[in-house]
Amino acid sequence: MAISRKILSTMEKSSWIRRMFEAGAKLKAEHGNDNVFDFSLGNPNLEPPREFQEALSRQAAETSSGLHSYMPNAGYPAVREKVAAYISGEYGIPLDAGNVIMTVGAGGALNVALKSLINHGDYILCPSPYFMEYQFYCDNHGGILNTVPTGPDFLPNIERLAEEIGPRTAALIINFPNNPTGTVYTQEYLDRLGEMLTARSREINRTIYLISDEPYRKIVYGEVEPGSVFKAYPHSLIATSYSKDLSIPGERIGWLAIHPEAEDMKNLVNAAILCNRILGYVNAPAFMQRIVGELQGVSADIEVYRRKRDMICDVLADAGYEFTRPAGTFYLFPKAPGGDDLRLVQALQQERILTVPGRGFGREGFFRIAFCVDDATIEGSAEGFKKVLRQFK
Ligand SMILES: Cc1ncc(COP(=O)(O)O)c(C=O)c1O
Repeated sequence: MAISRKILSTMEKSSWIRRMFEAGAKLKAEHGNDNVFDFSLGNPNLEPPREFQEALSRQAAETSSGLHSYMPNAGYPAVREKVAAYISGEYGIPLDAGNVIMTVGAGGALNVALKSLINHGDYILCPSPYFMEYQFYCDNHGGILNTVPTGPDFLPNIERLAEEIGPRTAALIINFPNNPTGTVYTQEYLDRLGEMLTARSREINRTIYLISDEPYRKIVYGEVEPGSVFKAYPHSLIATSYSKDLSIPGERIGWLAIHPEAEDMKNLVNAAILCNRILGYVNAPAFMQRIVGELQGVSADIEVYRRKRDMICDVLADAGYEFTRPAGTFYLFPKAPGGDDLRLVQALQQERILTVPGRGFGREGFFRIAFCVDDATIEGSAEGFKKVLRQFK
């Protein structure tokens, strides 16, 4: 067989989201786009903000020489400086351009971080439910993802995480605001997590790095303020992108930041720069770096997502579903009535409602709704949600 056995098996088990996408395409061909209520993909439905369009025009008009050349693998120094200034303000720890690497989205940043840290056979801890790609990203670099279920509030239990840490644990990945649950971690929570990591690192005589994946950081609704991992724990890295908050996932631009006091910081930064190159990214896209350099702190209109969140919560509450109101992201992770997420998702499909079973995020018995969709999709789904719940009562 010509294709790698491992990739064949990954293709087999990968991505419920894609499977739902394909089922959706079939339903849309049969019933027409407007008659299918597609909540399956986290593709922001807002257009990028006006500031982005303006920066595009300005940068497109630039004609100085070398604008499209190779550059230092970490990215343009001037852009990294602007990002560093933003991070210093947002995360409350001063750092400079030397601690920032421009990357090909958050996915690129995570792969760079993991490749820099993992020795073959190392474990990467991760609370579940989680963004499934982590499994593949860890495997890319010879690591093994070790998932630990969260409690009913979707907050990772710090004692449970502590118990899972062993001599082969290289890092803990967290993601907040969380895909798929919308949970936001506070400073108080992160401080306790940092204390645990400090204590366990001492006990196992190995520094456990904390990788925080934060592409939804600006998509929060004011109820819970996101804390700063940089304030909570020195051996931390932040991976993020402009995919979700500027609505530009196709442009593949993000960054990785390394805490200035992280263990072996200089080597870690140089390792990450090397990994950016040898993973084949070489450097983050030049044009997009210049654009986002101008847009620090800018985001799409989050109020629109808040309104959509409130709409979908009303639809689900009205129908009688059990769920935790998400404090951030454009996702909701309700309990599957009847307990079987696959059966529930299939029943919803019969009503032309597309969602993703919780097992696609490592948690059976729940399902994910991505509400970054038109208002008409939310409104049109209300009857179907009600009808399906009645079937499971
Ligand atoms: C939690 C999480 N991390 C990372 C990513 C990847 O983001 P990017 O498109 O910037 O690579 C996503 C995308 O959906 C995500 O949900």
